[in-house]
Amino acid sequence: MDKDLKYTYDKNNEMIIDNCNTLSLAKKYGSPLYVVSESILRNRCQLFSDIMKELYPNSIISYASKAFCCKAIYNLIKEYNFACDVVSGGEIFTTIKAKFNPEKIYFHGNNKTLDEIKFALKNKIYNFVVDNVDELETLENLVKSSKLLENKINILVRVNPGVEAHTHEYIQTSKTDSKFGINIESGEAEKFILRVCQNTKLNFMGLHYHIGSQIFDVKPFGLAAKKVMEFVSMLKKKHNIDVKILNSGGGYGVWYTNKDPNLKDEDYKKFIKAVVVEVKKAVSKDNLVEPTLVIEPGRSLICEAGFTLYTVGNIKEIKGVRKYVSIDGGMFENPRYALYQAEYTAVKCKTENKKTEKVTIVGKCCESGDCIIKDAKIEKLEKGDVIAVLSTGAYNYSMASNYNRNPVPPVVLLNKGKSRVIVKGQTYNDLIKYDL
Ligand SMILES: Cc1ncc(COP(=O)(O)O)c(C=O)c1O
Repeated sequence: MDKDLKYTYDKNNEMIIDNCNTLSLAKKYGSPLYVVSESILRNRCQLFSDIMKELYPNSIISYASKAFCCKAIYNLIKEYNFACDVVSGGEIFTTIKAKFNPEKIYFHGNNKTLDEIKFALKNKIYNFVVDNVDELETLENLVKSSKLLENKINILVRVNPGVEAHTHEYIQTSKTDSKFGINIESGEAEKFILRVCQNTKLNFMGLHYHIGSQIFDVKPFGLAAKKVMEFVSMLKKKHNIDVKILNSGGGYGVWYTNKDPNLKDEDYKKFIKAVVVEVKKAVSKDNLVEPTLVIEPGRSLICEAGFTLYTVGNIKEIKGVRKYVSIDGGMFENPRYALYQAEYTAVKCKTENKKTEKVTIVGKCCESGDCIIKDAKIEKLEKGDVIAVLSTGAYNYSMASNYNRNPVPPVVLLNKGKSRVIVKGQTYNDLIKYDL
């Protein structure tokens, strides 16, 4: 499969993803249906591996589990020697069941509960990305008394470099208003790190930062890295503290609609290069220990590999106002429009060269905000048509809910004409399983 071509149409005008016919998939597995192209996902895994090998071999790619967490995906990324980040007991549990090497797991989050922390340590996860003073205090108390600990806890401190970026815009600020991380500019991060270093049972390893998501501009990556490396140099000069690991987060943009650039391999390389240049510059200028560079992509690995198939149901036209096309899914399996007006592209799985129309594709939930695409431009749809929404691999399945007691659909992995279920669809019985 051509790696820039995410889907094609066959001679019958039927949509093909990873050599699988989408209409046959909808028939076999039902709809709504999440499908993930293994070939596209593997291409992205390979791309990031190649980029890091070339630009900065002393590096780790850590998959941001939050984008899409299940055992099969962990098994796949293990093949590329990736690490992963987790932010909850549930994600930790899934890594354990996928036999993910605990040494390659980074435990993130602004409010890890004590139970989750103990659960991580019990399962030999010792890499903690510490987010705030309260969390540090919890860890300090724990290491004082705990029998759980065979090893020291490795600490990465999540810092705010004062650069925040989303899509095409970024801002620089010295007073970061974020629930995540510790401010560099105010001196809090410095104090925090000194406190970590004083504790003999905690192992200060380095820093973590993440400037945002869906970023297309190279500049904020370089700018944030520069600010963080200035801080790293200061730690060395003033306190002789070495930063052995530098985790620069994820956030590389992906294509959802034609408003987004269709990034090429070279573009992803530029994002990472912007960071690498700043790291290398500071290392040689200030004679620093070369840190292991961690990148943490989520969306850019899996988003464009994912598609959701739906069947069109009722269609309602309000003359002169809007045409609503209801599908058999909705905010329970893709809440991103409802959450933050995320935009998507839909295509018909069998094209008949009908006229393109402007319609609003809505879900079946009892919420006016339950929309998948407002003002979609798509070939005229009729009841029973199957459509595919593109780029749904990230933050769809992982954000699904049972709103209106809708079962979460299955996830099917496609690979060169073969398909297999990697997450079973929920049944109605699953929905009442915990009702007493
Ligand atoms: C700390 C951290 N790392 C990595 C990511 C992954 O970001 P993306 O999926 O945009 O690459 C996120 C996303 O929110 C994050 O919060």
